[in-house]
Amino acid sequence: MTKVITLCTTKGGTSKTSLTASLLSYWQGEKRLVAAVDADPNCNLTRWLDKGSLKNIPHQAETNEGQIIEAVENISREREIVLVDVAGFGNQSMVYAIGISSLVIIPSRPSEDDVLEALKTKQVVTNAAKLTRREIPYRVVLTQVKAGTLVIEHTLKQFQAFNVPLFDTAIASCTIYQTSRFSGETPISAEPQGKAAKEITALAKEIEVQLSL
Ligand SMILES: Nc1ncnc2c1ncn2[C@@H]1O[C@H](COP(=O)(O)OP(=O)(O)OP(=O)(O)O)[C@@H](O)[C@H]1O
Ligand SMILES: [Mg+2]
Repeated sequence: MTKVITLCTTKGGTSKTSLTASLLSYWQGEKRLVAAVDADPNCNLTRWLDKGSLKNIPHQAETNEGQIIEAVENISREREIVLVDVAGFGNQSMVYAIGISSLVIIPSRPSEDDVLEALKTKQVVTNAAKLTRREIPYRVVLTQVKAGTLVIEHTLKQFQAFNVPLFDTAIASCTIYQTSRFSGETPISAEPQGKAAKEITALAKEIEVQLSL
């Protein structure tokens, strides 16, 4: 059965689209059958996927909030993994996508604002689980991390205080994410031996374990 993974948080700019493209790129390289739904009205993921190394990944932009579940169902046929990238604010698309997800990934930068928005997103996941009467696994991934800063410790403490599960892998701040977006590459395709590619690989492997992929 297709595993649907939604990357979401009510905070903008936390690396949702960058992680979506990078994970797609990694799994495509591993010969996994991947696809994507871009539920963000800004269609940033769609622009990225339409150029460079990701061109052959099936994807659909669905900005009609009421159509999001159907869009995911349609693209899921004969696909192993479908990633859903949502807008950086809470809307119906986010709730619906969470409701049909096998795993919800909540990217958060190490900042108090991001933590608060991640906690709000966790609440949406909890409510969606109640609505659908099933468990919806979720996990926070720290993104745009600058090594050796105390703010990481503060961030981790806050998440621990609220019992929020985190991926072991944290994603460092790295300009390859910005440059690869212009070219349509990803850290995986542009610098496969680089630090960013190694982190994406480690994150993907954690997800694989979580989802028994
Ligand atoms: N690990 C990183 N290191 C450095 N820059 C990054 C990293 N991840 C993302 N960025 C940059 O931060 C900006 C926001 O990233 P991205 O668009 O992936 O976030 P988003 O959560 O999808 O944003 P939005 O809420 O607007 O959809 C982009 O300019 C991107 O290139
Ligand atoms: Mg985005």
